[in-house]
Amino acid sequence: MRELIRKLVETYGPSGDEEQIRAAIRAEVEPLADEIRVDPLGSLVVHKRGRGGGQRILLDAHMDEIGVMVSYIDEKGFARFTKIGGVFPLNCVGGRVRFADGRLGVIGIESKRDDPGRIPELSELFIDVGATSRDDCPVKVGDPAVFFRPFAVVEAGEHTRYVSKTMDDRIGCAILIETLRRLESTPHDLYLVFSVQEETTLSGARTSAYGIEPDLAIAVDVTGTGDTPESRPMAVKLGHGPAIKVQDRGMIAHPQVRDLLVERAEAAGIPYQMEVLEYGTTNAAAMQLVRAGVPSGCLSVPCRYIHSPSEMVDADDVENSVRLLLEVLTR
Ligand code: CO
Ligand code: ZN
Repeated sequence: MRELIRKLVETYGPSGDEEQIRAAIRAEVEPLADEIRVDPLGSLVVHKRGRGGGQRILLDAHMDEIGVMVSYIDEKGFARFTKIGGVFPLNCVGGRVRFADGRLGVIGIESKRDDPGRIPELSELFIDVGATSRDDCPVKVGDPAVFFRPFAVVEAGEHTRYVSKTMDDRIGCAILIETLRRLESTPHDLYLVFSVQEETTLSGARTSAYGIEPDLAIAVDVTGTGDTPESRPMAVKLGHGPAIKVQDRGMIAHPQVRDLLVERAEAAGIPYQMEVLEYGTTNAAAMQLVRAGVPSGCLSVPCRYIHSPSEMVDADDVENSVRLLLEVLTR
């Protein structure tokens, strides 16, 4: 699974420009699907027919990632930019970004600042692509780019941790693909949705869920942890099992979905944690509000340093997420 994760996290795919990551995922799932389509907003929908007697289940993972977009190019060829999704200036300075064609840029900061120690605004940062004038600048207004940071594995004692940009939510995409690979037979009519534009508007999952009309939907995404120095208190730790969402800032998980995940984890002896997230939300918030309402919940992968170029997840949590989804699907 490690090579799959590497491939997915290193592939380009900011919200609104998911073509490359969609092709990469499609190559992995095509041999396993009964039917595959791209819906009108660009989400990849993979249908696996059940043997009957089950429900219509939607599993979602968003394939888009946060990034930046060029908003202005000055006469010396430096690009000003705005954000795509939740980008923090603190994580930007000195970083690198990669455009759709593979071109790299470095994020610099205005050095003539009143207080050099102050956290900058995004408007004080710029992208240097090596140009010397507006005319020879190879990027243009409206071009998106993603953060650039290769996949890495860190190991200490018993623990293996994966580190990269875009664990949010390529780790969810990897978990869905791996679940599909290991799934032998299911009574349920299964739809895997690799959705677009979660980081900006949740619109991909919203429209896909409307089209699929599922009986039950589960978003697989990352959640924060409370296990780093002086962190905001939160009862989720890396390596202590997938987290089952109770609530976040955008939704309360449907009790039926929450309890189903808890029951299956208990029965199979899979470690799990309960998630109460005090900031952010995810696709389940949008999916539960389509049509007359869809019972929706989340299986969350604990992740440190979310929306930084070095998001960290635990390998055991990833494996246990796959196991838990298989428990849900095979019964
Ligand atoms: Co995110
Ligand atoms: Zn996410």
